[in-house]
Amino acid sequence: MNSGGVPPVIAPAAGTLGVLLVGLGAVATTTIAGVVAIRKGLAQPIGSLSQMGTVRLGKRTEGRYPRIKDFVDLARLDDIVFGAWDIFDDDAYAAARTAGVLDPTLLDKLRPEMEAITPMSAAFNQRYVKRLSGPNVKNGRDKKDLAEQLIADIRAFKTAHGCSRLVMVWCGSTEVFMAEGPVHQSLAAFEKGLERSDDAISSSMLYAYAALSEGIPFANAAPNLTADIPAMLELAAKTRSPICGNDMKTGQTLIKTIIAPGLKARLLGVRGWYSTNILGNRDGEVLDDPESFRTKEESKKSALDYIFQPHLYPDLYKDLSHVVRINYYPPRGDNKEGWDNIDIVGWLGYPMQLKINFLCRDSILAAPIVLDSALFLDLAKRSGLYGIQEWLSFYYKAPMHAPEVYPEHDLFIQLMKLKNTLRFLKGEELITHLGREYYD
Ligand SMILES: NC(=O)c1ccc[n+]([C@@H]2O[C@H](COP(=O)([O-])OP(=O)(O)OC[C@H]3O[C@@H](n4cnc5c(N)ncnc54)[C@H](O)[C@@H]3O)[C@@H](O)[C@H]2O)c1
Repeated sequence: MNSGGVPPVIAPAAGTLGVLLVGLGAVATTTIAGVVAIRKGLAQPIGSLSQMGTVRLGKRTEGRYPRIKDFVDLARLDDIVFGAWDIFDDDAYAAARTAGVLDPTLLDKLRPEMEAITPMSAAFNQRYVKRLSGPNVKNGRDKKDLAEQLIADIRAFKTAHGCSRLVMVWCGSTEVFMAEGPVHQSLAAFEKGLERSDDAISSSMLYAYAALSEGIPFANAAPNLTADIPAMLELAAKTRSPICGNDMKTGQTLIKTIIAPGLKARLLGVRGWYSTNILGNRDGEVLDDPESFRTKEESKKSALDYIFQPHLYPDLYKDLSHVVRINYYPPRGDNKEGWDNIDIVGWLGYPMQLKINFLCRDSILAAPIVLDSALFLDLAKRSGLYGIQEWLSFYYKAPMHAPEVYPEHDLFIQLMKLKNTLRFLKGEELITHLGREYYD
């Protein structure tokens, strides 16, 4: 018996799944190239839980550990077709060459498939991404007109590629920091705002609105305020569309949410956590603008507060000094380097230090998250789940969550939640790790 309620009926993953990526930059092209390379048997889906992960079912003595993709009916990689929008008109092959993440010899083997993906013209306004301008941009009477053009793009894509289902992932640049305002409070207010091109409606919100209006699941891979506003939640409920985000947990924050739960578990105090990193890709250039950086900073800083719970452990974590810096440094390209200095306190108040130097590859860590988000959101939609999918917090730096609960940032709790959701969906027993039965 599972204790999560009656499991839903899951519609089969039949036919073609269209994965619509907003932004055809480093993350999007690395995701597309990866899927094409894996399909051709040129690479392994390393880092993807949906493709390589297993899930334990029943008791440890039963030895049942199926692959997740065999346990739940996920769209097969062969059944995915990609679409994209971008303000630049480079196809996915040229964009991947510009992004410089993947080796040209690999990209050349994927060239025909990647060249076939050309970006649709973007709904874009430099007001929300100051450092960019490009030629492949829509003109519209007002924001309502732009949203309608995006809906027309979605429908045309679906027909052209014979898709049975679609999902959309925002892989566009980080937009400037925005606070929730009156126009975001209800769907009616938002739709009126579209007509008068309200300044508080960013480009990313136009895409989310277009997707959710069509009943299409939406993930926000960036930190900008997009889908987690009451208007979008209302729309998602109305059209029964699942959503998740925000800001993929890669690089430094991934490591933070691996290390911090360990320190907390052992009740080691932390006086300070200084994080700095350098990166030189276009994302780094966009984040060099203080307004876009502020969006990122807010997203990156919240994790430690929630993991350490200073209100419960004031002696260990109150007044923790947490500093996050991102420096745009072109020579590194997509190969980010991060440094963390953590000032720890142990037994009797004795200080210790932990230094972490992570030479990571941003988009290599991000691509499997885009793939898994798309596949799991499609599963959610076929299972009748809609609104915020908290079980996908595992992938995000600033996880969307119900208003009455705090976001769960601990990677290991997030993973347990994700796997228990899969067990629930399939009517399997949830795993509590109590394990008393082995000793009775
Ligand atoms: N790489 C990572 O590890 C990682 C982790 C977390 C979040 N992110 C976020 O993911 C996003 C993408 O990262 P990236 O490295 O691919 O950046 P990128 O700059 O290479 O690509 C972003 C693309 O989005 C396009 N774009 C911007 N606004 C658009 C709009 N309104 N419509 C259509 N296209 C638009 C840009 O032209 C650009 O090609 C960024 O917001 C980044 O902060 C990346």
